[in-house]
Amino acid sequence: EDMYMLYRGLMLPKETHSLESLQFAQELAFKDEDVVSVTYPKSGTVWMQEILPLVLNGGDLTPIQTTPNWDRVPWLEEKRLAVVVDQMTSPRALVTHFPYNLMPPSFHTSKAKVIYVMRNPKDIVVSSYYFHQMAVFLEDPGTFDEFMGKFLEGRVLFGKWTDHVKSWKHTELGDRIMYITYEEMVQDLPAALRRISDFLGSNLSEETIQKIAEHCSFNTMKENGMSNFSLVNKLYMDFDKSPFLRKGVAGDWKNHFSSEQLARFTSVISKELEGERFSLPWSLD
Ligand code: A3P
Repeated sequence: EDMYMLYRGLMLPKETHSLESLQFAQELAFKDEDVVSVTYPKSGTVWMQEILPLVLNGGDLTPIQTTPNWDRVPWLEEKRLAVVVDQMTSPRALVTHFPYNLMPPSFHTSKAKVIYVMRNPKDIVVSSYYFHQMAVFLEDPGTFDEFMGKFLEGRVLFGKWTDHVKSWKHTELGDRIMYITYEEMVQDLPAALRRISDFLGSNLSEETIQKIAEHCSFNTMKENGMSNFSLVNKLYMDFDKSPFLRKGVAGDWKNHFSSEQLARFTSVISKELEGERFSLPWSLD
């Protein structure tokens, strides 16, 4: 447990987060032109770090060719933001795993836009399991069954998935927020990019959409040293255990869940979402 700190009830890795970085996030002055992509961990954060700069700049590849993803579209809550924030040019793109209630005051008073990416929690728990095996700064996940138990109880980074989703479904952001799923991005990336581009008012040509889709495909990103984490120290991520860009598909849970695990998972998640006014885009069973 030494690898984690507790911040307002959330478990966060000390390697990437500190009280200073969390304070820095709370004090960040949001601008109206800012765009924030919000994700529960393992829902497509790094994918959005690739997509957003290209949609905002009309398909200029420079950012994804010259700047590592963590400096290009930094995490609001992590230590790196303080290092790079002064070099960021507007419109700025950020990512965050914060639940809605932890967003800083200036976010609420600004007109900054939000893209909330949702992924099937069954695939999140699988992706997260491999991530915990390769990320040296995270606790060993144990067996898949043990890890699923922790996930369902919220004894994982950023807490329960259901709490995260509920918090971002109950905002007063109106048309400042757009929801998209990882699955729709996997199924038809150009269509997803058109939605994102419309939301951000980017007005991209079909040719540019196709170009961005090609550069943000799983295979291209896996080869992009600025996005596949190959620049990080081996003491931080162990690629012999798993690549960061691991499979990039929807439905890999089917290769990992037993029928008992599926029943348990469905029952816990459905119970926690009982009575909610929104419905999930995928069936859980
Ligand atoms: P898998 O482990 O299922 O492969 P995050 O960036 O939020 O940590 O999420 C990581 C997950 O997003 C990983 O899932 C990773 O492979 C997937 N991902 C990243 N870029 C992708 C892309 N271009 N296409 C499909 N999946 C992508």
